[in-house]
Amino acid sequence: MISIKSAREIELMKEAGKYNNLTFKEIEKYLKAGITTKQIDNIVYQFIKKNGCVPSTLGYQGYPASVCISINDEVVHGIPSKRVIKDGDIVSIDLVLSYKGYHADATRTYIIGNVSDEVKLLVENTKKAFYEGVKQVKDGVRICDISKAIETYAHQSGLSVVEELVGHGIGSKMHEEPDIPNFNTNDKTRLKAGMTIAIEPMLNLGSKEVYILDDDWTVKTCDGKPSAHYENTVLVTKDGYEILTGD
Ligand code: MF3
Ligand code: CO
Repeated sequence: MISIKSAREIELMKEAGKYNNLTFKEIEKYLKAGITTKQIDNIVYQFIKKNGCVPSTLGYQGYPASVCISINDEVVHGIPSKRVIKDGDIVSIDLVLSYKGYHADATRTYIIGNVSDEVKLLVENTKKAFYEGVKQVKDGVRICDISKAIETYAHQSGLSVVEELVGHGIGSKMHEEPDIPNFNTNDKTRLKAGMTIAIEPMLNLGSKEVYILDDDWTVKTCDGKPSAHYENTVLVTKDGYEILTGD
């Protein structure tokens, strides 16, 4: 069953989305070559707490941090560590927090210093693929219409689509029904106004294949080429959509 949020729940999700976006603004003050991913995690934890929110990933199925930080050929779920961010890295920061029990989920991929034109395009086109998907959203949209739009844009841009991880419903739980794949699975399920979903393309410069590291979390590309990720929490409305986690 896909939950339809009440007006009160939607207000709380908007608040959660606002705090999620503010946390990214805080991260952006510190994110540069020389900082460790653990330092970013500490900044995120403190800021989330200060705002009366809860970091959703901390302790989730044993995940040990308040944020996932995935660099270059890491696709998702990188664990903050002593690793130092370097010039030429692309850094995906995936942040989920809850406010009064309602979750907001967003990811940004940042370019640190100088990267090649093809990597720059990977990052830009992953964000654009999200917008191609979200543009489809309105009361009555089929999940396959969102998936197809993302996949088509990714392939037109010469990028491959990670299939093992997908977008999802979100609300009083971080992961709710339905799955929102970034490739067409022909899912004809229709979304309705009041549903809230996370749309999150993960696109690769090389092939789509990924594997999980021995830490049981970090997902990497098999060919070692870079991957980018862009995500927002989105409310389905009668005529379209509202992005709850900003830009
Ligand atoms: N933002 C991620 C998602 O959409 C959150 C998973 S983080 C985890 O699924 F590491 F805690 F699982
Ligand atoms: Co998500």
